[in-house]
Amino acid sequence: MIHVKQVSKTYTRNQTSISALKPVDLHIRSGEIFGIIGHSGAGKSTLIRCLNCLERPTTGTVTVNGVDLTALHGKKLQAQRQQIGMIFQHFHLLSSATVFDNIAFPLRLAKADRKHIRERVEELAELVGLQHVLNQYPSQLSGGQKQRVGIARALAMKPHVLLCDEATSALDPETTRAILQLLSRINRELGITIVLITHEMQVIRDICDRVAVMDAGEIVEQGDVIDVFLHPAHRVTRQFVSQVQDDTHVRSYVESDAAKTILSISFKGDQTYEPVLFETVRDTGYSFSILQGTISKMKDLPYGQLLIELHGEQIDHEQVADQLRARGLEVEVMEWRS
Ligand SMILES: Nc1ncnc2c1ncn2[C@@H]1O[C@H](COP(=O)(O)OP(=O)(O)O)[C@@H](O)[C@H]1O
Ligand SMILES: [Mg+2]
Repeated sequence: MIHVKQVSKTYTRNQTSISALKPVDLHIRSGEIFGIIGHSGAGKSTLIRCLNCLERPTTGTVTVNGVDLTALHGKKLQAQRQQIGMIFQHFHLLSSATVFDNIAFPLRLAKADRKHIRERVEELAELVGLQHVLNQYPSQLSGGQKQRVGIARALAMKPHVLLCDEATSALDPETTRAILQLLSRINRELGITIVLITHEMQVIRDICDRVAVMDAGEIVEQGDVIDVFLHPAHRVTRQFVSQVQDDTHVRSYVESDAAKTILSISFKGDQTYEPVLFETVRDTGYSFSILQGTISKMKDLPYGQLLIELHGEQIDHEQVADQLRARGLEVEVMEWRS
């Protein structure tokens, strides 16, 4: 779908060069929601703007649906760009135009006829839930409604790809959830591939299939969200994962003692609802306490993570870990010290 090969970007201003993006490789599959996460300044916007050549890469190629965008200019590039919609953190709406006219903008630019424009705008307004505000102006709308206008406008030309640059970063948590649900639906029902930039791990966890982690202009880690989430390898990834896993109270509990052996257990899918943990520990004769637990969902996949402490005489942690592993759980025996 989207193949990024050795794409880099160097900005030059007043004889100083900023290497915003080191050469990166990326493959985004048709029909997936691909997340890109990183701190401010990591190069996320630069990378996503290279995907539709809004920013021309300094090196490398970007191929979308088999067409090398970096080889195109002018009208040919514009025509290909119609296949790629984009939405932004601050919406970028025309403040002096109604919701209808904002959504109609790309259709008018493409010289569609009046009847088609009306039908298409009404269809889009219905899709994003704005049919009752078509005559209002952006200043009369809530943040969530403004982003819905942005989404409707981005979909006007029936793109195959939707690029989202921090599309929920200006919204409150509840509105964020609603917009993410809408994006999920668009992905599922219209089959549109979505590339989504964020600095919030929760956004990645809620709707993305795969994720790339960026730091200082480089992709430092990428893979299925569930794998990156349960086994973050890079320091920056671990920071992001800890955004949604608050273990501070476990730390203070452990720090009140000299050292503790703790089992870190993760499970996914149907296992999440099975009493595997209880049964295994019962068979060993130990008891246990849960120091921290999360049962949640990654996109549609249920998963759980637990930190447990075993209680009993002469505990053989490795033996318990092996028994749990034999039943399909992922287990790590961790020595926590103060
Ligand atoms: N048009 C530009 N001119 C000069 N430097 C830029 C420009 N755009 C971005 N940068 C720089 O490139 C780096 C990456 O920026 P950006 O891609 O916006 O990161 P992010 O979206 O992850 O916050 C930053 O150091 C930023 O200051
Ligand atoms: Mg940015």
